[in-house]
Amino acid sequence: MPGVAIIGAQWGDEGKGKVVDLLAEQADVVIRFQGGNNAGHTIVRGKDVYKFHLVPSGILYPGKLCVIGNGVVVDPAVLTDEIDGLRRSGIDISGLRISANAHLIMPYHKLLDHAGEAKLGKLQIGTTRRGIGPCYADKAARLGIRMQDLLDEKILKQKIYAAMEPKRLMLRPFAKDPTLDLHAMTEEYRTFGHRLEPYIADTPPIAWQVLEENGLVVFEGAQGTMLDIDHGTYPFVTSSNPVAGSACVGAGVGPSSIHEVWGVAKAYATRVGAGPFPTELDDDLGERMRQSGGEFGTTTGRPRRTGWLDLVALRYATKVNGLTGLVVTKLDVLTGIDPLNVATRYLGPEGAMFDEFPYHQSILHKARGDLIELPGWHEDIRAARSLDDLPETARSYLDYISDFLGIPVVMVGVGPGRDEMIWTGASERLRPAAA
Ligand code: GDP
Ligand code: IMO
Ligand code: MG
Repeated sequence: MPGVAIIGAQWGDEGKGKVVDLLAEQADVVIRFQGGNNAGHTIVRGKDVYKFHLVPSGILYPGKLCVIGNGVVVDPAVLTDEIDGLRRSGIDISGLRISANAHLIMPYHKLLDHAGEAKLGKLQIGTTRRGIGPCYADKAARLGIRMQDLLDEKILKQKIYAAMEPKRLMLRPFAKDPTLDLHAMTEEYRTFGHRLEPYIADTPPIAWQVLEENGLVVFEGAQGTMLDIDHGTYPFVTSSNPVAGSACVGAGVGPSSIHEVWGVAKAYATRVGAGPFPTELDDDLGERMRQSGGEFGTTTGRPRRTGWLDLVALRYATKVNGLTGLVVTKLDVLTGIDPLNVATRYLGPEGAMFDEFPYHQSILHKARGDLIELPGWHEDIRAARSLDDLPETARSYLDYISDFLGIPVVMVGVGPGRDEMIWTGASERLRPAAA
């Protein structure tokens, strides 16, 4: 069972961290392949809650090989903080590796992210303001600074100069910002380089070797399909490709190395930041979901928008990623909401109906979910550990989703804890040890 990709199937925060943690126990290596510290992946182990922004969600297993792939954008200040925090908690991070080709988020990227959003005003994307977009823009413009550049002061300084110079005009309002001093910035990043040097590596060969030996590689996605820069709700997206295909590019392996693609989706829907959300509930019920689901951003603390499960978008995500299985998380949050609604098509402008996810922004922005009712349940389901422990209506809800998408539900989350999970048995090849 060599390669499995864990992908956000909605708008992020689906519970990918928990799923990766569960699979990581038997994995030989876990590889984050895109995004940066816009991500926040939560793992709950008993009373301990870990929130990872850059370090892969397999790190809690002592010595586990955990790779930050070339497709990730790394803010070294955030990464060194995360490493310090893990060390303070006594966690063995000797298995951490950072691709020498991963790009660095620089102080000017963060300032540009802030400035860009401020300039957009009402039209803003609602980014995490972590400098993600400007960093990927520099990567594409071939003005990026990479991890390996931290190890050579002369190259580092030249590259920072070359990258910062064209931005002078845009950065004029920040002319006096002390973080924009070329010498101070080079010094600061050299210091990060000293700290991170033991972890910097040529990372694709790590994956190749595990694959050659028929070991298990878990590719950890960040964000979600609907935030994908090509396939999401552009321009209200992130600046990378969270879809499964990107695991190859961001880790340095070929498509034949990925054998299972699991999409992670909540039993309802959330979105943080601006952009279309056809099943949004802007009412008391939406607020109830927000409170009972703890729907506040892991990275920015912003309240997440909430809504009914959007099966139109989820079927689109199934196709775009080639999902082989679905993990449904947070089923427990729906307890007591009866009836439940799910969207099976969209109502567009002028009464038009859409069975498939519309590509056209003018339609998508006006689309509302055409909802059907399904019966809910009232029993507490957090103690359920098999499908048989669930009320019949909860099982029917899962069956409805699986039938609609044409893929099996492989896991069901019934609480945040690592044991609060149902293993459905749909994928015998990949059974978490905890199941
Ligand atoms: P990620 O970005 O996809 O890793 O997800 P986040 O960590 O940002 O958000 C998911 C939140 O839901 C976290 O607080 C998890 O602890 C929590 N969570 C995950 N699975 C479940 C579940 O099945 N039930 C409940 N109630 N919470 C869950
Ligand atoms: P995880 O990995 C949810 C959203 C932001 C904004 C848009 C662009 O935890 O699921 P960016 O800072 O990336 O330029 O912001 O993307 N966003 C996320 N939403 N979960 C995430 O990550 C996100 N990462 C970015 O809120 O709407
Ligand atoms: Mg998150």
